[in-house]
Amino acid sequence: MKFNTKVIHGGQHPDAATGAVMTPIYQTSTFAQTSPGKPIHPDYEYARATNPTRSALENALASIENGAKGLAFSSGLAATDCLIRTLKAGDEIISMDDLYGGTYRMFTRIYKDSGIKFHFIDMNDLDKFQSLINENTKLVWVETPTNPLMKLADIEAISKITKKHKILFAVDNTFATPYLQKPLDLGADIVMHSATKYLGGHSDLMAGALVTKEAELGDKLHFQQFATGGILGPMDSFLVLRGIKTLHLRMQRHCENGQKVAEFLKNHPKIKAVYYPGLPSHPFHDLAKKQMKAFGGMVSFNFKSGEMNDAISFLEKVKIFTLAESLGGVESLANHPINMSHASVPAEKRLEVGITDDLVRLSVGVEDIEDLLADLEQALA
Ligand SMILES: Cc1ncc(COP(=O)(O)O)c(C=O)c1O
Repeated sequence: MKFNTKVIHGGQHPDAATGAVMTPIYQTSTFAQTSPGKPIHPDYEYARATNPTRSALENALASIENGAKGLAFSSGLAATDCLIRTLKAGDEIISMDDLYGGTYRMFTRIYKDSGIKFHFIDMNDLDKFQSLINENTKLVWVETPTNPLMKLADIEAISKITKKHKILFAVDNTFATPYLQKPLDLGADIVMHSATKYLGGHSDLMAGALVTKEAELGDKLHFQQFATGGILGPMDSFLVLRGIKTLHLRMQRHCENGQKVAEFLKNHPKIKAVYYPGLPSHPFHDLAKKQMKAFGGMVSFNFKSGEMNDAISFLEKVKIFTLAESLGGVESLANHPINMSHASVPAEKRLEVGITDDLVRLSVGVEDIEDLLADLEQALA
């Protein structure tokens, strides 16, 4: 199956009990047994381990990411945490330095006393990356494109190095989605998603996902998830599954609108820099063309004045864009990273990677582009 068919049919079957075409919401915590240890259905015993609605979503996730196994979690951070928990004291992780603030907070604060060592580096400096690898290096963590500066990392080039050293390589594919980029095909071992974003697609749930290239690693992570409990409930599993069925349609419009918003901002007299990989001036435009199908709906920018007040004034005036955390839904959202999504990153670290006080991040939705541009125009005026 090709991608647009997979989002609808990948890993899906009519319900075995009733023939229902859409997977029912199996709102149950437990499953009957005929004799102790003999469940009626061999796959279902207790819903922390497996639930048919979640299984249908997990099969869809594996299918669209071209992986062997998918796992659905209660949030993106729960998915990340499940993976990091498989490491032990003494292990080292090499991570990209420009990350979603919550991921950075988890790595630096929750795992502070774990004995796991994190290195935060520019993953485009492959010499520096290779110089940090030693026998304790167990995982490489990359977000591409990054939140909020839209930096890219070369998945294929990094995977050649991780394969040589037998290090696991995980990619946070939240911004791109498998419609635009397939990390497992490019050599990564694990894909992570905040499914709260484009996969769910309607800003009506929280969910996370891990997809593994190999079934064995997927089984190990499934055990970890079962034993620690960060699972996605059946209702939200159903909603993500439904969201995925229109992923390709939504992403196409997000990309069209994202490109037009980026071009509009680039030509606006009050704007200094626009961060969008679809602009030829973007430092990673060529890499984006190589590893992504198109450029997505996330656009960041800052002001010629460099003043935080200009960003705040703009964000108070937008009408169709809603000032809110999150991204990836059908509606357009606007965010002030230093006060919102990246408030948990220390100020000096933010400045080091380029998250300035006047930076604004837009999640461009699927509304009519004329209305979106008019809204930006009036808020900038
Ligand atoms: C790129 C990225 N990764 C991970 C997360 C965390 O996901 P969640 O909020 O679903 O826990 C987010 C949330 O904004 C994100 O933008």
